[in-house]
Amino acid sequence: MRIGIVGAGRIGGNAGKLFAGAGHEVFFSGSREPDRLEQLAVVTFARSGSPREAVEFGEVVFFSVPWPAVDELLAQTGSLAGKIVIDTTNQFVTGEPEGGVEQLPKTVAETNQERMPGARLVRTFNTLAADSLPEAAARGAAMFLTGEDAAAKEAVAGLMRDVGFTPVDLGGWAEEPIMDVGGAVSGLEYSGEDGLRIAAALSRGGPNEAARLARELRARPASTARRPGPPASPPGVAPPAPRQAEPARLHRSRACAPRPLCVTVTHTSPAGDWEQRAISRTAEAAEGIRAPLSGDSSRLTG
Ligand SMILES: NC(=O)c1ccc[n+]([C@@H]2O[C@H](COP(=O)([O-])OP(=O)(O)OC[C@H]3O[C@@H](n4cnc5c(N)ncnc54)[C@H](OP(=O)(O)O)[C@@H]3O)[C@@H](O)[C@H]2O)c1
Repeated sequence: MRIGIVGAGRIGGNAGKLFAGAGHEVFFSGSREPDRLEQLAVVTFARSGSPREAVEFGEVVFFSVPWPAVDELLAQTGSLAGKIVIDTTNQFVTGEPEGGVEQLPKTVAETNQERMPGARLVRTFNTLAADSLPEAAARGAAMFLTGEDAAAKEAVAGLMRDVGFTPVDLGGWAEEPIMDVGGAVSGLEYSGEDGLRIAAALSRGGPNEAARLARELRARPASTARRPGPPASPPGVAPPAPRQAEPARLHRSRACAPRPLCVTVTHTSPAGDWEQRAISRTAEAAEGIRAPLSGDSSRLTG
């Protein structure tokens, strides 16, 4: 599938790498640093350009910019009518996760649907920390989604399965606030199985029942619900120094037929190592990614 990313930051960059690694065609846009877009595109054998080009390219648009920049980026994309749009935005106005949250007269989903008339909006990729996406996908973690367009949700669920997530459809805009900042499943990783149990509780007993189960799963001693990021240091104790980023290691393999060549990149970052497969159409193009990868890999992790 062709996926146009608008906002190639922590979420958009990491998700784009996952989609490209699963063999989808990706187009990165929306960074104010063209070098960053180009680097992402080189590593993933993707393309880069303007937000408008990303929308023209994508059968699916992955819209992932900070809340205060949403209108500015929508002015650059042009109309999203008819497009399947994955909306990852959370309404933080002064930085996250500790920043202030805009008080809206409507839900986030309804607010964004109004700003993107005709878009086939699916709210998702907004409950997990960006750095945890690769590992969470590899674990088959729950990826919650909501939307009013069933076919759009099914297309997005397919993309999630392709990268390893367990899609968990919570319903439509009436159910969506459970995923928003402060909602029962916001900011925590649940196993696929637990996610599906939460969805069943929501459908059976409504938001209170779902929130009760989410709390229960969170409190379980051997909880599969994970809090993203390292635990905070106690007051007065300096946090441990982040692990020095090491150069990325590049391995080449001809084993991933039917594509002619497959490249596996090991990213090393303070958040941990993770591997990404990029697919090249030619050996020459794969050779070309050696140079950017020999530097500091932390720039590649979004
Ligand atoms: N980070 C998370 O863990 C997380 C989790 C769930 C949901 N979300 C939500 O997902 C969305 C994206 O988050 P993120 O963490 O990926 O953000 P981010 O790392 O800051 O990336 C934002 C992207 O938008 C671009 N952008 C374009 N115009 C901008 C402007 N005027 N101001 C700021 N950025 C601009 C940035 O470009 P540059 O490269 O030029 O900065 C960057 O590519 C947000 O709405 C956030 O609330 C984030």
